[in-house]
Amino acid sequence: MYTVAASFLFLGLAALQGVDAWGALGHATVGYVAQNYLSAAAQTWAQDILVDNSTSYLASVASWADTYRSTTAGAFSAPFHYIDAQDSPPSSCNVDYARDCTTAGCSISAIANYTQRVADGRLTADNTQIALKFLIHLLGDITQPLHDEALDVGGNTIIVTFDGYTSDNLHSDWDTYIPEKLIGGYALADAQTWANTLIADIDTGIYQSLAASWISGDSITSSANIITTATKWATDANALVCTVVMPDGVEALQTGDLYPTYYNSVVPTVEMQIAKGGYRLANWLNMIVAANVATRRDIIEEAASDMISRMPEAEYPPLSRRNAAQIAREAYGEGCGCGKHR
Ligand SMILES: *[C@@H]1O[C@H](CO)[C@@H](O)[C@H](O)[C@H]1NC(C)=O
Ligand SMILES: *[C@@H]1O[C@H](CO)[C@@H](O)[C@H](O)[C@H]1NC(C)=O
Ligand SMILES: [Zn+2]
Repeated sequence: MYTVAASFLFLGLAALQGVDAWGALGHATVGYVAQNYLSAAAQTWAQDILVDNSTSYLASVASWADTYRSTTAGAFSAPFHYIDAQDSPPSSCNVDYARDCTTAGCSISAIANYTQRVADGRLTADNTQIALKFLIHLLGDITQPLHDEALDVGGNTIIVTFDGYTSDNLHSDWDTYIPEKLIGGYALADAQTWANTLIADIDTGIYQSLAASWISGDSITSSANIITTATKWATDANALVCTVVMPDGVEALQTGDLYPTYYNSVVPTVEMQIAKGGYRLANWLNMIVAANVATRRDIIEEAASDMISRMPEAEYPPLSRRNAAQIAREAYGEGCGCGKHR
């Protein structure tokens, strides 16, 4: 039986977990990296849904989901920001979707839900926009190792000293204070600067030979494939809990200031995870848009041949196939943005 104390504790932990997610800096940087790799079609699609043609269309909404979870209406979505892997770092790290995703949901189930919703075509413009804003955020969160770990509420209750601050917790250091120490600010301009460095690293630098592996096998073609892909992302980040976040256990993190030795040991991972999040997000949205356009083209083609097949013989020659396709295109609202205003 659920006791009041138990549900109170659960709510308390849920509220604590990932208070900042990657902080605003990390999420906006993921957004800018993604913008760089979006196809022209995906850029138009995203700008249309977000009603924002600026140069920060993904970056400026990348932390929306953190604001939403703190509202009464959005409180249900707090568990969507993480998955509580019930493993035993540093000796054993692993994610098991069936074991770790609770009935309240988790990052993996939420990514599946919002991937389907953003492409649904029957949702209102508002709900489509919400789905896209969740994806922009959650593909960032899932790369933060402590968002894929149950131990000590994802590190929220591990009190450490970082850069002279004696009551930081490990989770918020990873989310916010380590990235901000590295970049020296958290404004959109700082995120753009950081993103430019990471983009150069992906295109011609240290990540050039790795980037393809970050998205290898990623698939949106079925709910099962989406779950498999997101579980792979969570597993990838969760493994870093054992190897990079706490390779010598929790107590080893509490013996002195994490700056500079620990900081220097984790910064390359922090940077790579942000780059990964952005690169994956772009590929994910590109695939969603490519699939939608393909579907719509199929529908139009089908409608055109149906129209031709039902035409009286006499009319067929004057009404060319091209004209029929044009009529079908208009009938099926080509360029309608599919699903908006419905
Ligand atoms: C963005 O640009 C497109 C294409 O030029 C235009 O149709 C749309 O109205 C613009 N949206 C905003 C919010 O300015
Ligand atoms: C899917 O998203 C909608 C809209 O935010 C939400 O109401 C619903 O609970 C979500 N479902 C799952 C399984 O995450
Ligand atoms: Zn978050």
